[in-house]
Amino acid sequence: MTKKKMIITGGLGFLGSAIAKNFFHKYDLVIIDNESTNVIKADELSLLSDQIIYKKLDLALLNEQEKDWFKKELEDTTYFCHFAAAVGVKKIDENPNAAIINEYQVNQNILPLIAQSNAKLLFASSSEVYGNATECTEDQSLEIGSPDTLRWGYACNKLMTEFLIKSYEIPHITLRLFNVTGPGQSPDYGMVIPKMIKDAKEEGSINVYGDGNQCRSFCDVEDFLKAIDILISNDMFHNQTLNIGNDKNLITIKELAHLIRDTLKVDAQINYLNFHDVYSKNSDDIYKRSPNTAKLKEIYTPEIDVKSIIRKIAEHKYG
Ligand SMILES: NC(=O)c1ccc[n+]([C@@H]2O[C@H](COP(=O)([O-])OP(=O)(O)OC[C@H]3O[C@@H](n4cnc5c(N)ncnc54)[C@H](O)[C@@H]3O)[C@@H](O)[C@H]2O)c1
Repeated sequence: MTKKKMIITGGLGFLGSAIAKNFFHKYDLVIIDNESTNVIKADELSLLSDQIIYKKLDLALLNEQEKDWFKKELEDTTYFCHFAAAVGVKKIDENPNAAIINEYQVNQNILPLIAQSNAKLLFASSSEVYGNATECTEDQSLEIGSPDTLRWGYACNKLMTEFLIKSYEIPHITLRLFNVTGPGQSPDYGMVIPKMIKDAKEEGSINVYGDGNQCRSFCDVEDFLKAIDILISNDMFHNQTLNIGNDKNLITIKELAHLIRDTLKVDAQINYLNFHDVYSKNSDDIYKRSPNTAKLKEIYTPEIDVKSIIRKIAEHKYG
């Protein structure tokens, strides 16, 4: 039987490459990435299978020839996983304009082309669209902050893309991801668990911003992949939005720092720093970010706890 075809944008990134590694047996894969914040090299894909097609492409800057290639690839594609974006609090803080324009241009370029195909789109949106809301249920109103704080451009882009997907009437599932983490995630762009583990081991210290009472829920990448597999295989939640995260793993950042120190058994000092001494006025910290997972639990309940996530990331050399 011939395999169905799946395109993955951002396929050398943390989540895109995890999808590729998990699904290459099941689907014919085409991977696209501009290699800006990739966590694996293209060579690693050919180690998985010589059937995987890889194309280095900047989706924000497609020329006519590249658009033709893209359209041709879409012709027999069943699933389109759109995971390319500039990601990470640190990366967005350092150059918010580039991050916002990148995502805007990528979506301007590719959504009209996907709309002309029969592919089903899995779009990686973000918990950021909930803004300052402390309850995060898929159908509720959102509380995105002011444009004077540029980080909100990331959330607005994700939300606008959600609207565009519906306006183009692209068959889709929108995934609002809540701190999906695990081995392979880079510590370099502000992802908190890999960064704290790296600092604890290499610097002998862990930095916490503010009083550390802000809290987050962490979801292991293996749980994310299991949910995606069930979603695709059963064609669930067609044209709907779904939170993916693990509300059982809600933890304050202060507790997280202590748990990392205890789990790694390192003698790391925990420093409390003023958020705005580290990040510019383009950024803003969020008090609480945790998903309502009632809808997710109709198909899958994430299982992996924070301590196990920490162990797995540390064993993988913090990334
Ligand atoms: N990891 C999470 O918890 C999380 C949370 C919310 C949303 N998301 C979304 O999930 C997606 C994947 O996130 P990730 O954690 O794997 O990030 P990542 O940075 O590891 O992966 C993103 C990939 O996209 C590529 N890319 C960026 N701009 C591109 C362009 N113009 N053309 C082609 N490729 C481009 C990068 O090189 C990188 O390999 C992103 O859209 C992100 O916004 C992730």
